[in-house]
Amino acid sequence: MSDTATPFGTTFPDPQTTQPARPSAREIDATLRRLAELKTTGLRGDYEKQGSFLYIEDFLPREFTERLIAAVKDVTPAINRNYLPGHKAGGSVSSHNIDNLAPFIADLYRLPALIKWLETISDDKLQLSPADDPHAYALYFYSKPGDHIGWHYDTSYYDGRRYTLLLGVIDDSSCRLDYELHTKNPAVPDQPGSVQYLPGGFVFFDGNKLRHRVTPLGENEMRVSLTFEYVTDPNMKPFKRFISNMKDSIAYFGFGQVFRRKGGKNGDA
Ligand SMILES: [Fe+2]
Repeated sequence: MSDTATPFGTTFPDPQTTQPARPSAREIDATLRRLAELKTTGLRGDYEKQGSFLYIEDFLPREFTERLIAAVKDVTPAINRNYLPGHKAGGSVSSHNIDNLAPFIADLYRLPALIKWLETISDDKLQLSPADDPHAYALYFYSKPGDHIGWHYDTSYYDGRRYTLLLGVIDDSSCRLDYELHTKNPAVPDQPGSVQYLPGGFVFFDGNKLRHRVTPLGENEMRVSLTFEYVTDPNMKPFKRFISNMKDSIAYFGFGQVFRRKGGKNGDA
């Protein structure tokens, strides 16, 4: 539980109307300082030992966490609720809506210092997801009892690897991120684990390697999580594009957000 958490629809933080849309120099400085404080060598080793998975309890500078919590209210009109019987229930806000309603999040996603730091941890060259990918940066809302997502991988439909960064925004819930390490490595026994990443918390992993789920939300609970997706090769074969678009439309953002660009990559699918 968190002292910053609030039940959905009741007492959101006040609109931060005086804040600039972009991160201030002070916030960026705070982020750079925070990244410099982290003991990268040890964390890189942890990431490797855990089969391309890393959890950091306290990652984001407080300034950023507060901005993210405020952004939740700004994006609320754009939440798309979805329900896949037996697998998933919850709400999502796509990167396209975030661009319009909370551009601060898009700036955080593109922050060169953050990407460089993630490259050090993953020992991989990371690229931004293509502009037409609604998952590039997205907010996930768990706001109704039972909201959850079942066991899955964040499978890459791209030609290269797909990395997921999760950042805790609001957590007034009993939800857990359960995971299993090493499931794709026959040389190492599977290793189960579970975390509750609170506001400012960080989870980073290779989407093809980490089997994971989020356990169901209880009564009078709320949880909001921010996800960033980075890739090593932004190209995607047409059939995989079709599968990816269908999955995103049905399970996450709705057809309007996924097929919004006629003639673009998604429109071609
Ligand atoms: Fe996932």
